[in-house]
Amino acid sequence: MIHGIKGVKDILPAEIARWQAIEGTARRLAMLYGYQEIRVPVFEVTELFARSIGATTDIVEKEMYTFHDRDGTSLTLRPEATAGAVRAYIEHNLAASPTAQKLYYLGPMFRHERPQAGRLRQFHQFGVESFGSADPRADIEVISLLWRFLSDLGLPDLTLEINSLGEASDRSAYKAILLDFLKKREDRLCQNCRRRMDTNPLRVLDCKVPECKAATEDAPKLTDHLSSSARRHFDDVLAGLSTLEIPYVLNPRLVRGLDYYTLTTFEVTSRRLGAQNAVGAGGRYDGLVEVLGGPKTPAVGFAVGLERVSLMLPDAAVPAPPMMVFVATFGEQGAAAGLRLLHELRALGVRADTDYRASTLKAHLRQADRLGAAFTLIVGDDEVAKGRLLLRNMRTKEQEELPLSTAVKALVARLGQG
Ligand code: HAM
Repeated sequence: MIHGIKGVKDILPAEIARWQAIEGTARRLAMLYGYQEIRVPVFEVTELFARSIGATTDIVEKEMYTFHDRDGTSLTLRPEATAGAVRAYIEHNLAASPTAQKLYYLGPMFRHERPQAGRLRQFHQFGVESFGSADPRADIEVISLLWRFLSDLGLPDLTLEINSLGEASDRSAYKAILLDFLKKREDRLCQNCRRRMDTNPLRVLDCKVPECKAATEDAPKLTDHLSSSARRHFDDVLAGLSTLEIPYVLNPRLVRGLDYYTLTTFEVTSRRLGAQNAVGAGGRYDGLVEVLGGPKTPAVGFAVGLERVSLMLPDAAVPAPPMMVFVATFGEQGAAAGLRLLHELRALGVRADTDYRASTLKAHLRQADRLGAAFTLIVGDDEVAKGRLLLRNMRTKEQEELPLSTAVKALVARLGQG
């Protein structure tokens, strides 16, 4: 038999209620906060990701699923959706629309990472991108939407970590200071960090290797080298979070694995998640629209990993399915009556099902129990001849006889009364 791909999972019916609860909450909150859905393609030209995420990032260097189209064009399965959203924003001139500036998306992303709990090669994100405002209140709105999403779902032990990467000029000045510091400790850094020290020194601060962590413990902090406008922006964001009573922890090492960020960056982690502890993350990327050929446009956004949300989702956050009525039929006349009963129930908005394979009452009732039916309508040729049917309460096992022609209405009325 042919197996699915490693790190690429099926989401089976038993898990679907969790996913629908998560996606429903995402859509409801995005709407409440004024975000409109955008659906961008799952593959794009490779250059889009290389230019936006950054050629020297882990994602672009080693995690992308890249292949050649028949004409030789290099294409890539999207490792994230910010780049695609920005491309669409520019291509369709959404800047000209007074409303289409706050976007959200839900969908699969693809990264060739080593699979483990909470880390997949096809995973799903809920993300938002807010274009056009440089105001710190846009950052606060995005963070508060992320926080509200995770809190409404009842996820435990969340920590919001926040940092500022300053403006581009702050970063280049700081990179020189950091490089100077790293050079003096080069022999204590891992191979990977030694290699990327010159190309992307900020990434060294994010290295998970304990020796690298120890070697950079007293590294100079970017937040100590912010320009006055970057400092003010950061202070305003922090003040806004306090106003909204969103707790945060400053993390000067939070540099993120994508190169498009400026000013605010943030990440929400949970102790419950183990090694892959980031539930969601994002930040401001004021330069990206311009880098991709659009007008200078400030922007800020986040993305949440839905597999990680699902791992932590308490059962109580998953709503019970609506009550079900099962229809058990016997004989030819019974089957014909059952067909009408199911149709009538469903037309009135009642979840109703049957089992076309079952031929005995026992088999029907077993299936009704498996499906969690609250009531079963039992109708065979004899009942049809009498113009009656049996209504069985699956919990109390009580049965009563009702007229066939009015049974559905009577049952629905009763359900309506609770
Ligand atoms: P990211 O930090 O690369 O940011 O991913 C966001 C979230 O996606 C992570 O916090 C994690 O929960 C989830 N995630 C990432 N990789 C995997 C994986 N291999 N398996 C399972 N979950 C994963 C971004 O993607 C940016 N586009 C966020 C953003 C939007 N920034 C601005 N706007």
